[in-house]
Amino acid sequence: MRPERNSETALSQSGPRLFRAPGRVNLIGEHTDYNEGYVFPQAIDRYVYVEALPWAEPVIEVWSEELNASARFELQSAAVGNWSDYARGVSALLRVRGLLRHGGALRIRSTLPLGGGLSSSAALEVAVALALLGLNGKQLPPMELARLCQRAEHEYPKMRCGIMDQFIVTHAQEGAALMLDCRSLEHRQVRLPDGNIRLVVANTMVKHELAASAYNQRRRECEEAARLLGVSSLRDVTPGEFHAKSRLLPEPVRSRARHIVEENARVLFFAQALERGDWREVGELMAESHDSLKNLYQVSCPELDFMVDAGRELGSLGSRMTGGGFGGCTIHFVEAGQAEGFSAELATRYRRHFGIRAQIFPCLAAGAACEVLPAGSASGT
Ligand code: GLA
Repeated sequence: MRPERNSETALSQSGPRLFRAPGRVNLIGEHTDYNEGYVFPQAIDRYVYVEALPWAEPVIEVWSEELNASARFELQSAAVGNWSDYARGVSALLRVRGLLRHGGALRIRSTLPLGGGLSSSAALEVAVALALLGLNGKQLPPMELARLCQRAEHEYPKMRCGIMDQFIVTHAQEGAALMLDCRSLEHRQVRLPDGNIRLVVANTMVKHELAASAYNQRRRECEEAARLLGVSSLRDVTPGEFHAKSRLLPEPVRSRARHIVEENARVLFFAQALERGDWREVGELMAESHDSLKNLYQVSCPELDFMVDAGRELGSLGSRMTGGGFGGCTIHFVEAGQAEGFSAELATRYRRHFGIRAQIFPCLAAGAACEVLPAGSASGT
């Protein structure tokens, strides 16, 4: 049920405030973030929105328009095993830091596909955090906000994610992708060089079961590989060193580690290729990344592989799965003039093969999560 908008306990007569956080694609550097490696995400112009009304009571009510579901909980509450855990986790950690006194009614809606590998979880966490901070007259620097939301995801939905998603959602700049070193957290914005190229997202619309436990399992395998190689994380191993020592590792740990070591190197080559507009090299690196995720890291699935193969056949400059895998989305760099025809043909082929209507859309590089101020106000977005 939808929260009562004109609740007697509402503090404000001035109407709700609106916050939004973008989704993201990752151009390359998959599963490297929790190995202290390199990633290359870009926020996209699809958002989770949170409309927030303050209450005097220390109680939060969330209502999700997409799920048509609501939940009501204290500022500090335990996980319950459903979607509201993202909000519960964020609220509890903000409360522990002494940043929350008041609750509120949060109405959530989204133009971002949920659970589709476009980081709707991080977008939800960050949008809820900004809303709760806003209602309580508080702020957190972007890095602290990112870390708090990552921790909430570890402790509530129990997904041991890296920092990539929360980082890009809080640090993105419009018109740029971001290359991030997940160890030092040094990062630089990389403007996409060519106005004639579009980035197309193709959602397979499938989400395979056990994605969270398989994700956590991959993470443990990487930790095991680092231990056996005598390093603190796989970031410390170069491809040359890995090939010299890989016989120390049993399977599947060896294949997992090989993916990480080679993927880190690919991110660095990719950044250079993108900056000099070398689309042939960009495309090859994306193909290698996808094949490695499929064969070595084993987080792809037939639907993702089909979409990537079809994208390549239809003339994309680069195609790969994006995000954690086990379903979700693929990305494709396509000449602007061909983007529409490409998307239509990709959808047709996918539907013919799987009987599923894919969601395929071009995206632009969006800015970080923020409050959406009313049109006409000084810094309105
Ligand atoms: C999910 C996680 C990220 C990252 C990606 C894979 O999106 O939240 O931290 O590990 O998977 O690159």
